[in-house]
Amino acid sequence: PALSLDEQADLLPYNREFEFPRDNLKLGKQLGAGAFGVVLKGEAKGIRADEPTSTVAVKMVKRTADNEVVRALVSELKIMVHLGQHLNVVNLLGAVTKNIAKRELMVIVEYCRFGNVQNFLLRNRKCFINQISLVNDRIDPAIMIQRVSENFELNRNSDNDPRSGTRAGRPGSAGYSYDRQTDTCATEATMMTTVPEDEHVMSNNSIQPAWRSNYKTDSTEAMTVTTTDLVSWAFQVARGMDYLSSKKVLHGDLAARNILLCEDNVVKICDFGLARSMYRGDNYKKSESGKLPIKWLALESLSDHVFSTYSDVWSFGIVLWELFSLAKVPYPGIDPNQELFNKLNDGYRMEKPPYANQELYEIMLECWRKNPESRPLFAELEKRFATMLGEDV
Ligand code: ADE
Repeated sequence: PALSLDEQADLLPYNREFEFPRDNLKLGKQLGAGAFGVVLKGEAKGIRADEPTSTVAVKMVKRTADNEVVRALVSELKIMVHLGQHLNVVNLLGAVTKNIAKRELMVIVEYCRFGNVQNFLLRNRKCFINQISLVNDRIDPAIMIQRVSENFELNRNSDNDPRSGTRAGRPGSAGYSYDRQTDTCATEATMMTTVPEDEHVMSNNSIQPAWRSNYKTDSTEAMTVTTTDLVSWAFQVARGMDYLSSKKVLHGDLAARNILLCEDNVVKICDFGLARSMYRGDNYKKSESGKLPIKWLALESLSDHVFSTYSDVWSFGIVLWELFSLAKVPYPGIDPNQELFNKLNDGYRMEKPPYANQELYEIMLECWRKNPESRPLFAELEKRFATMLGEDV
């Protein structure tokens, strides 16, 4: 008989080369927490070859967690070992597994200093520059260049910039980049598109599964976000997901809260592997209490608990909607219940979010096609965003 995904993950090897000495790891403040686990900031001595100490994120189970939860984190660890490294995935740096019987299990991953893009957009939506041209509905990076140059000093990227993030990070920004650290936008209200506050609350219909929620970051200063940034993030997420799917790994919980923003405008997908084991069997019924990301799930996942790369593509469409609404809660005003399923099943889909053009909205609609196999693949999505950004992949 075929093995379930969890059983497959159990059989994956854990590579001892990732074992990291507990004594070389200093734990810091909390970055996120969920029902069963926490993510802490940390300092790890000698975990990377190129620096004496590195800032890292450490994922652990809570003391009160049961065996299932420990097992889920082990399975996530194994999936990360299996995955290998990719720019647009939060990469594994090491793990502490020696005392796993005493529930000491730490998964050490790259630290992404700007936190998840959902919170990033919520914090910075007042500093949004809408680059969609009123003339032809195209994205025009010049809208930013003109406006920003009045206020910010621009740095021209050198052609041989070794940062891998430059190409993936800001293609289409006409060779310009700026430094997020110094890029504040509080000064000139006039140059920003004013975005209304909305009903976004971390309420019971905003779902916060086990590991994430309430990420805090160092920086509280406001930073500009442009339409080009959003497209660049979409491009990078498609690229990371294409990599995941090439390794036969499903995400199962793709959402803006699971996409982290790092230096150089690089975004990385996190939290794969864990979600799945939460969805299994009876746990699924917990959906009524709002523990499941109903609003991100594909029709077939809702009706038959079927998860696949195709259902990840559906969720990616919801992520696009989140990005181009600047982190609104999907299906505003609708409860995630049977009625939502019925509506979707009858062909209802969300409207175009305010900061998308028609081209972007059509991509969303394609991701939400009823027939899973007629949805676009991540490789195709990656190409389409690259084209939008004026790049060849
Ligand atoms: N919150 C959860 N994981 C994180 C990471 N890798 N970097 C920064 N914040 C996080």
